[in-house]
Amino acid sequence: TYVVTENCIKCKYMDCVEVCPVDCFYVGENMLVIHPDECIDCGVCEPECPAEAIVPDSDDKAVAWLEKNRDFASLWPNITRKGAPPDDADAWKDKPGKAELFSA
Ligand code: SF4
Ligand code: F3S
Repeated sequence: TYVVTENCIKCKYMDCVEVCPVDCFYVGENMLVIHPDECIDCGVCEPECPAEAIVPDSDDKAVAWLEKNRDFASLWPNITRKGAPPDDADAWKDKPGKAELFSA
């Protein structure tokens, strides 16, 4: 599976949802997650994310986020169409330490 990591927090560009062939993205207050049992590992979302938030589960950055993706994909609504990103999305891009801003 591919995993959404902390770079998505407060950026939430949503380009990823437009390309996913199986619609396995779920949306929370300030980030998205991927349902690990639904993702078919096609990889097309990874280069679409301007924040480089999406990584394969083999990536070191995925470790801290895989279970969060699984847990919250079951709780949050599915998202298949790109909406308007936050007004300050670009200001949050590439900021370190966003994990503590995760909001369920
Ligand atoms: Fe969807 Fe493919 Fe990305 Fe998995 S890797 S979330 S199937 S676009
Ligand atoms: Fe997040 Fe990147 Fe998608 S910022 S919403 S994973 S395009």
